[in-house]
Amino acid sequence: IKIKITDREGVQHEVDAPTDMNMNLMELVRSYELAPEGTIGVCGGMAMCASCQCYVDSAHELPERSDDEEAMLAEAFYVKPNSRLGCQIHLEPSLEGLEVTLAPES
Ligand code: FES
Repeated sequence: IKIKITDREGVQHEVDAPTDMNMNLMELVRSYELAPEGTIGVCGGMAMCASCQCYVDSAHELPERSDDEEAMLAEAFYVKPNSRLGCQIHLEPSLEGLEVTLAPES
C-alpha cells in the first residue's frame, strides 16, 4: 500500500508500506529514515514514550486507541484530536492512501 508521511521538516514522502510483515507505522518511518535515529521509536513500540506520535490527516477509520495509547497521549506534548502513536498503527490493507504527519520532537 502507499502511505504519505509528512516529516518534521514539513516534507511529504509517499512510501510503499508492506502489509504482510507485521510492521507498524513507527517501524515504517524508521525504515525509510524519515526521522533521525533516536527521535522516534524510543521505547521500541511499547506505547511508553510518544516519540512516534503522528497526526492522522486522512479520513481513514483506525482501530480505537487502546488504554495504553490513551494513557501515553494524555501525558504527551503537542497532542491533537487526531494524534496517534505510530507504533500502535499496524500496517494493513485498509490503510491504503493513509496520510500522516509526524508530531514535533518533544
Ligand atoms: Fe514509544 Fe511508540 S515507540 S510510544
